[in-house]
Amino acid sequence: MDKFLIQGGQKLEGEVRISGAKNAALPLLAATILADSPIRISNMPNLRDVNTLVKLIAGLGVTIEYVGDMVTADTSTLNNQFAPYDLVKTMRASILVLGPLVARYGEAKVSLPGGCAIGSRPVDQHLKALEALGAHIEVENGYVHAKVDGRLKGGEVIFDMVTVGGTENILMAATLADGVTTIRNAAREPEITDLANMLIKMGAKIEGLDTDTLVVTGVESLHGCDYAVVADRIETGSYLAAAAITGGRVRTTHTDPALLECVLDKFEEMGAEVTRGEDWIELDMQGKRPKAVSFRTLPHPDFPTDMQAQLMAVNAIGRGFATISETIFENRFMHVPELSRMGANIQVEGNDAVVTGVEKLSAAPVMATDLRASFSLVLAALAAEGETLIDRIYHIDRGYEHIEAKLQGIGAKIKRVSG
Ligand code: UD1
Repeated sequence: MDKFLIQGGQKLEGEVRISGAKNAALPLLAATILADSPIRISNMPNLRDVNTLVKLIAGLGVTIEYVGDMVTADTSTLNNQFAPYDLVKTMRASILVLGPLVARYGEAKVSLPGGCAIGSRPVDQHLKALEALGAHIEVENGYVHAKVDGRLKGGEVIFDMVTVGGTENILMAATLADGVTTIRNAAREPEITDLANMLIKMGAKIEGLDTDTLVVTGVESLHGCDYAVVADRIETGSYLAAAAITGGRVRTTHTDPALLECVLDKFEEMGAEVTRGEDWIELDMQGKRPKAVSFRTLPHPDFPTDMQAQLMAVNAIGRGFATISETIFENRFMHVPELSRMGANIQVEGNDAVVTGVEKLSAAPVMATDLRASFSLVLAALAAEGETLIDRIYHIDRGYEHIEAKLQGIGAKIKRVSG
């Protein structure tokens, strides 16, 4: 199993080119199922999760090619609507094929994803929403079997909580439904707007982009198009955090400051100088120790849960103390014991954590537990005294493209070791 060996103490400086967003790439891939002519998606990040979904879609019989940063898909060869447990269990976002399959082919059998390290993460809202559009749903032997006679029917969907995946699944399904669908309490993450923009390019009729009410007027068919995946705001924030924790200066390029304003505000509150360009962001910590900052994770446009672990790591060496509340997932502090092994002072009570900054972290063997938590350990290791070994980095490979090369490019001493 691969591990990272990181020698801490370097002030990171330079430029990092940001990749396409994993969380946009996955729904865009699922949406290819809706197109009746070939579709090409560029700026596709080369990640384990993207490869998993490409494999799943290929298993449906779709002719799908993934070369460089480009995916081409042609659904004319699709011959089944089955997503097996083996693939779905490795990536929860596989459930995103459910809506497109039932909308276009009237039937789908998709494995239930099950829980994961950060919480139980049910898909009840996805299923309830599809039922509201007339799908008949049965859950049997760990599989969701969805069926509809003819087309789905437009209807009113009101989510009980803000769900990113649920909004995406039903948005895709509604594009081919008969009539108008109103999605209320919809998630507003930039990746949803990216999906809506591609669906519109495919011929869909969607209004209310960037708001919590999406109105979709169904059409009979959607066609292929060329589309580029939006920049990864979480990857952007993660590399800016690397500058903040090492007192360095990093410019992220091929990104968009508008995607992560709330996170940039927090960096400024820490005392960093943040400069925004049209498609770049630079963070200069000017060798200073950041001030610890409090925040609460909430749906977009508020502070993203996917940046919680990284900012906790920066707070760990901050001046003063900060309170962090996690309101999206029930078990998303698994990085705390690992950060504590490196000398961080963090007290957890339920979904709140109080971080009291220490002057120095120290190297220790640690273990990655989930995707974003893993990056918080990389950050801590970059700032720590000594050499840190991070185990189970397969979690990182799910979501950070070329991470060693990007970090080495800004002066980090990181290498991948196996065994
Ligand atoms: C997506 C992101 C993930 C991010 C999360 C929240 C992708 C591929 N993943 O995950 O990186 O951390 O949004 O911003 O885009 N819930 C239910 N029932 C449902 C659906 C969700 O109870 O049917 C709960 C979940 O357990 C969770 C909360 O709602 O506590 C938010 O989940 P959701 O927004 O759906 O997250 P994902 O789409 O899985």
